[in-house]
Amino acid sequence: MYLTKFLINKKFQFKRSNVLKYVSSTMLSNAYRTISNWKSYNVTPLYTLDKLKKNLKVNNIFYKDESKRFHLKSFKALGGAYAVEKISKGKKNIIISSATAGNHGKSVAWGAQRLKLKCKIFVSQFVSEARVKEIKKFGAEVIRVKGNYEDSLKKCQELSKKNNWKIVQDVSTKDYKYIPQLTMAGYSILIKEISKQTNEYITHILLQAGVGGLAAGVVAGVAKYFRRIPKIIIVEPDKADCVLQSIKGKKIKKIKIKKESIMGGMSCNEMSLVPWQILKNASNCCVSISDKNIAKTVAGLKDKKFSKTSIIGGECAAPGVIALIGLCNNVKASKFLNIDRTSNILVIGCEGNADVKLYKQLLSKGRK
Ligand SMILES: Cc1ncc(COP(=O)(O)O)c(C=O)c1O
Repeated sequence: MYLTKFLINKKFQFKRSNVLKYVSSTMLSNAYRTISNWKSYNVTPLYTLDKLKKNLKVNNIFYKDESKRFHLKSFKALGGAYAVEKISKGKKNIIISSATAGNHGKSVAWGAQRLKLKCKIFVSQFVSEARVKEIKKFGAEVIRVKGNYEDSLKKCQELSKKNNWKIVQDVSTKDYKYIPQLTMAGYSILIKEISKQTNEYITHILLQAGVGGLAAGVVAGVAKYFRRIPKIIIVEPDKADCVLQSIKGKKIKKIKIKKESIMGGMSCNEMSLVPWQILKNASNCCVSISDKNIAKTVAGLKDKKFSKTSIIGGECAAPGVIALIGLCNNVKASKFLNIDRTSNILVIGCEGNADVKLYKQLLSKGRK
């Protein structure tokens, strides 16, 4: 069993102008212009999963390899770091702050370090020492807060207000949209790059989601850069399917996470507001998957089971491949999405071995 749930979005309607209302075309252009001028910028590879495409009987499967995204090994490097640059506007005397479960904070810390800015990162008691170490590597001060992520955010807001630190969060609410929009604009670069890496029209995109920032950023990129609009499929852990539940309920739903998924970055209980405004209409369907196939797929990517190239894909990279296999093996889903021999499908390899220890464990488990 590859899919736990498959949900068709009854409110689907893709309108470029509607998407670009929430993250504007100018924002997307500015993000590309700025980031592509960073010294260490390189386009990440777009591989073909040629073995998997034969098995699944589709025309092509593209895999965007974000393990090569700067030295952060994840697409997240594009978001927080870009927002830091935009809001600091060249000033050197400001202090950046953020609350994080790990990856976003790393990007913010790196962004601050690039610009020689001081940075304070707030983490809850549940964030591992390994993740804290990663953030400290980029010169940030890490402040541990008792309680969960929300408690760490509250503390960050309180101290930032008092000390006039600039908060860089990737989650948007009614009163806090601009900075999360910047992070999404950063993520849209993936699509700008792909539009130059292949001449084939992409027919389907599978997009992993936590709070939905990556998915919405990519959809914004599609609205701006792609000539034809592919079908959009949202992929989530079944233990944290807040996008699926929101689409089903036609409004943002906060869910209870009973057990954390191994797909750590995607284990979120509530959607961010701007991604909701975009994805509620732009996504064709949502799927959820269990943790069961993650290790096997991580090992399969590395051991060339899907492609001629060995790929380093972590726990949040594997879900795209797993969901695609599930969709192709599900008659109702593949019929609904018109997946056939002419399909050119894009999956996003969101991260590499960003968590080195976990990656090693998954590899050895997946090879058994
Ligand atoms: C490493 C990582 N972190 C976080 C996320 C979730 O991103 P967002 O919260 O923007 O949906 C993903 C993928 O969806 C991911 O691969």
